[in-house]
Amino acid sequence: MIDELNQLLESAKGELSQALDEAAVEAARIKFLGKKGSLSGVLRGMGKLAAEERPKVGEIANQVKAAIEALLDGAKQAANDRKLLSDLNREKPDVTLPATPRRRGHRHPVSQAMDDIAEIFARLGFKVASGPEIEWDLYNFEMLAIPPDHPARDMQDTFYIDDKTAPLPPPGSPPTVGKQTLLLRTHTSPVQARTMLSQPPPIRIIAPGKVYRCDSDATHTPMFHQVECLHVEEGLSMAHLRGTLDAFMKAFFGPDTKTRLRPSYFPFTEPSAEVDVSHFLCGGKGCRLCKGTGWLEVLGSGMVNPDVLRMAGFDPEKVTGYAFGVGIDRLAMLRHGIDDLRALFENDVRFLGQL
Ligand code: PHE
Repeated sequence: MIDELNQLLESAKGELSQALDEAAVEAARIKFLGKKGSLSGVLRGMGKLAAEERPKVGEIANQVKAAIEALLDGAKQAANDRKLLSDLNREKPDVTLPATPRRRGHRHPVSQAMDDIAEIFARLGFKVASGPEIEWDLYNFEMLAIPPDHPARDMQDTFYIDDKTAPLPPPGSPPTVGKQTLLLRTHTSPVQARTMLSQPPPIRIIAPGKVYRCDSDATHTPMFHQVECLHVEEGLSMAHLRGTLDAFMKAFFGPDTKTRLRPSYFPFTEPSAEVDVSHFLCGGKGCRLCKGTGWLEVLGSGMVNPDVLRMAGFDPEKVTGYAFGVGIDRLAMLRHGIDDLRALFENDVRFLGQL
């Protein structure tokens, strides 16, 4: 009986080496291992064996069965591989099919606006300057003619950094009036002070970056972006401010854009002006977005206060300057017709992907 079992294994080997497809492998499985298959046939003879021979024969029968099962698995795998290969060989690629579209990303709308602004000003001869977001009270307020207790501080409440180990303002900084505290800068204007302390006129810089205020609603987020512009040179007047703003807004919103100045107040500029642009979406006719006025308020500006120039060590009789600070998020919102500022910072690609 042991011989029979071994023969069975040999003939299974022979047969499976010829089984080229799945059907042939399956037929072999039924033939050798099926209920009425060869193995069952041989085992039916077990009854005739002497009792002491049975365990031995049973063990060999199990080994033969396991070996045939392994052969079947191998043959099945080989048959599948063969089929896959022949399928692949048969299929010719159809070069006329449309390609799978690739999702392409793009820069964030705020970064786009920032880069566009830097490019516009580069053409006007302005360099990009930067300053820290964690700023000294000295540069954020005092050097901009906002001493402690000045009412203008109310509008720019911010986050203060309580760090006893923080370094003091850098050596060579001007003497200060108030206690020196670190805060998250409320505007990019401290870069004005830092730049004037570090280089002589003529100065032509823009300073883009993040700023922080204790504010949160549909049009205010605790963090937002501004670009500061500062130009200090001999003989500058309001006309230069107006001309620069006009060139900037036309380049950013389109050649038909008009600008207008309204009197305003900032401690560090004198005189100061709020700047509106004609609403490009309604062509200045007035609509819901511009509240029917045809104008949108976009930035604060003015001639640099002589006191600010003096604090930076410049002679206001010799040089004058103009400056403005514009909210980049607001420009990006206007450009894309977004009505909730917070959408810009929720980072939902379904929204950002449309811009
Ligand atoms: N720093 C001012 C603000 O954030 C804007 C401004 C900048 C005004 C420069 C005048 C000159 O409100």
